[in-house]
Amino acid sequence: MSELHTPHAGDDRSRDDDVVALLMRQHGDIRNLFDEVEATTGEERRDAFRRLVRLLAVHETAEEEVVHPFARKGFPGGEQVVKDRLAEEKAAKETLAALDELDTDDPKFMPRLLKLRRDVQEHARAEERYEFTHIRRSTDVTNLAAMAKAVKAAEAMAPTRPHPGVESGAKNMALGPVAALMDRTKDTVRKAMGK
Ligand SMILES: [Fe+2]
Ligand SMILES: [Fe+2]
Repeated sequence: MSELHTPHAGDDRSRDDDVVALLMRQHGDIRNLFDEVEATTGEERRDAFRRLVRLLAVHETAEEEVVHPFARKGFPGGEQVVKDRLAEEKAAKETLAALDELDTDDPKFMPRLLKLRRDVQEHARAEERYEFTHIRRSTDVTNLAAMAKAVKAAEAMAPTRPHPGVESGAKNMALGPVAALMDRTKDTVRKAMGK
């Protein structure tokens, strides 16, 4: 791994056996990737944006497959909390797909990215406040660890740092569109949960 990267929230992996800590760490990684996209231009921005798209797609899919189903039944009011979060995730995914069609140098790119950032940030805050806190209170370390394992399997599909030596976007592009990535993430998560 490169020595030259800026510190990421995920540098401390010690709490990754708790699904809530793990997802909150990913929220931090997502924030950092938005920063990176905003701070770069040209090929570097393209690369940072590909990593952001992948992490967002993988993160939201893992939440939908692992923590939302638990939250729905896990605590009083969970059903409504999950309904609200799913509506936010759907809106964010649509913005993401629209953004993904633009080149990162397109003049329309930055305003759309900033809108996505605001929506994603608000959504993450709502999850932490109305969902994650209750999940932690409603289950035990064994279940938190089991859910973390499935989320980690998904995370392996979205490296947050550039691949050393990959200067062109070609390798990233080969991963295909957002929807296909989400489908593959679903399969990976379900397999990790033994489904
Ligand atoms: Fe989410
Ligand atoms: Fe989230």
